[in-house]
Amino acid sequence: MNEELEKRIKKVNAKKFGEDLVGWFEEEMRDLPWRENQDPYRVWVSEIMLQQTRVDTVIPYYNRFMEQFPTVEALANAPEDQVLKAWEGLGYYSRARNLQAAVREVHETYAGIVPDNPKDISALKGVGPYTAGAILSIAYGKPEPAVDGNVMRVMSRILSIWDDIAKPSSRKIFEAGVRELIYKENPSYFNQALMELGAIVCTPTSPSCFLCPVQAHCAAFEEGTQQELPVKSKKKAAKTVELLTVIAENKKGEVLVTQRPEQGLLANMWEFPSFERNGTDTGVQMTELLSSDYHVDAMIIDEEWMVQDHIFTHLIWKMQVGRATVNQSDTALPEQTQWVSKDDIEKLAMPVSHRKIANRWKELT
Ligand code: ADE
Repeated sequence: MNEELEKRIKKVNAKKFGEDLVGWFEEEMRDLPWRENQDPYRVWVSEIMLQQTRVDTVIPYYNRFMEQFPTVEALANAPEDQVLKAWEGLGYYSRARNLQAAVREVHETYAGIVPDNPKDISALKGVGPYTAGAILSIAYGKPEPAVDGNVMRVMSRILSIWDDIAKPSSRKIFEAGVRELIYKENPSYFNQALMELGAIVCTPTSPSCFLCPVQAHCAAFEEGTQQELPVKSKKKAAKTVELLTVIAENKKGEVLVTQRPEQGLLANMWEFPSFERNGTDTGVQMTELLSSDYHVDAMIIDEEWMVQDHIFTHLIWKMQVGRATVNQSDTALPEQTQWVSKDDIEKLAMPVSHRKIANRWKELT
């Protein structure tokens, strides 16, 4: 740890800081479903869902997920497509796949008990330093840091840390700071209070310093730099990919869907045939690709039926969606491709963009 940071930490009265922060949390904590008890499995699921997704969005997913998969055993034994379906709309689907793989390991290797030590818990798939620290502290009361973006923002201000929080290497600096200040009497509430403070008081653009329970301990408040912190460099711009997507319908009113590869973006999810635009005529490209990639002989009836964008973290899809009819549909389809009815399409796990298209298709009579 650098000397400057050490000095800052020494200036904070850790005991008083912990009492002020935890005292505030006890009064103000939001009533959230994963706070009902300290079951490590429940804490784990909540922390995975809360990565990259807002609390308000997570709540209904979390409740449904817990109804369907209430225990380690239930999730370990569930078919993967049911888990993906339950995750549909939350995004970052590899989180769900990794969670299930790790829960299966807990079921098999640890008799269903989530490990309570850093070494074993960190070895589980999808459990990084943040998730490990969150489970160990929130469920098991261990004094381990759980540093996410919110916590980095809060701590950058409390301790006046000017390292770029967008750089992965910065997290260790913040963990060291939290380790020094963590409230040993209640690490669970301490970590949750830091997250809660970041979410509702110490917000990115206009922090409510006058409502802050730890204002008296805050270096940035003292120096008037709370608006300048944290330092966060800009991500590079997302790349745009133009896609042509086809709703190809057969005589029975079924539509062609295909499953994405096991690895990579949106792994194993179902979608309508989509191709990167290659600059040739749209209708021609749609027909040719349905023929070469899916062995179906299609007639395009509306090449500009709708447009749909989808924004990922590093990628934007601009999708132009066409409609086609397929007369002869007795040819063998490639693997991972099938015809589905309007009822059955509900059961597939689809990316949000394709689900919106599916919903529009269902409205057609
Ligand atoms: N964000 C990440 N983890 C959280 C938690 N346990 N409670 C509220 N917000 C969170």
